[in-house]
Amino acid sequence: MYLRGAWYVAAWADELADQPLARTILGEAVVLFRTEQGSLAALENSCPHRRLPLSRGCVVGSALRCGYHGMVFDTAGQCVEIPGQAVIPATARVRAFPVAERWNLIWIWMGDPDRADPAAIIDIPHYDAAGWATNRGPAMDVACHYQWMTDNLLDPSHVSYVHASSLGSADTIGVPVKTEVGDGRVIVSRWIRDHDLAPFFAKRVGFAGKADRLQHYEVRMPAHAVIKDVIAPAGTGAPEGQLDASVFLIDSYNFVTPVDADNCRYFWFQVRNYAADDAAESAALTEDFIAAFNEDLVVLADVHAGMKTHGSKLDLATDLGSNQARRMLARMIKAEAAAN
Ligand code: FES
Ligand SMILES: [Fe+2]
Repeated sequence: MYLRGAWYVAAWADELADQPLARTILGEAVVLFRTEQGSLAALENSCPHRRLPLSRGCVVGSALRCGYHGMVFDTAGQCVEIPGQAVIPATARVRAFPVAERWNLIWIWMGDPDRADPAAIIDIPHYDAAGWATNRGPAMDVACHYQWMTDNLLDPSHVSYVHASSLGSADTIGVPVKTEVGDGRVIVSRWIRDHDLAPFFAKRVGFAGKADRLQHYEVRMPAHAVIKDVIAPAGTGAPEGQLDASVFLIDSYNFVTPVDADNCRYFWFQVRNYAADDAAESAALTEDFIAAFNEDLVVLADVHAGMKTHGSKLDLATDLGSNQARRMLARMIKAEAAAN
């Protein structure tokens, strides 16, 4: 079950050069390509003639040529040429999907094309802003249903266990969370006061000793997460809103694209307010986040397999946020189906 009327990330912009790119998104085969003029397009990846994937073809001008018998499809999916044949049958067309390029990512809309508004693509405050820097990792294939990912991205409690040697520290265990629901999103957050810095942050924050740390885990429907870490020296008033310019901030943007019922693809980057001109720190952050996220992927693949086989016997108090998110998305999917 997927929400179709939403912008999903299809690829990093630089993954798409002069060759068409095959992707499976929401269980559908899609081909992405750039015309020779540089504009983007996405079509159903199946030639209506003998069903060769159009991704095996090539870009010709502002269209895509099938690699079997040479039919040519424009960016709207309409066949505009059949070699050796003057008449183009009405069935010679494929579905086209709205696409947009933003934040160095290619976004695709899998629902009703008339409702696709690129202005609805997530805003990223501070992206390319003075004093801020961005680092990004590679797209990761995850062998789980996408909602196991979004559960994880709403769950600060797992950090103490899955990331015990990196993002977590023992004194975060059991610290209560606040759950907020509304406006197409769920936020699970907590301030952890006067605690030992996790190794991941201790080498970066620029101060020693105890810290106050905000974990802000936010999922926006259907499957985008904004995770903010705010870290300040303990007792300096950060939890009460006293955040001066030197406070340590990392915002993680996480975009989960469902591939099919058993797989998803994970795109992510961070923006930070320190070491803005330090390329080595960007590379180190990416490397450390890859290591941390790989810890999640191993767990999530096993959770997916275990849940498929046995199902769950219980929920915990810490599941409140993810359960609220699942209910919200289910309502949206139901409403979308009813409207169509
Ligand atoms: S299979 Fe594409 S033109 Fe024949
Ligand atoms: Fe994690």
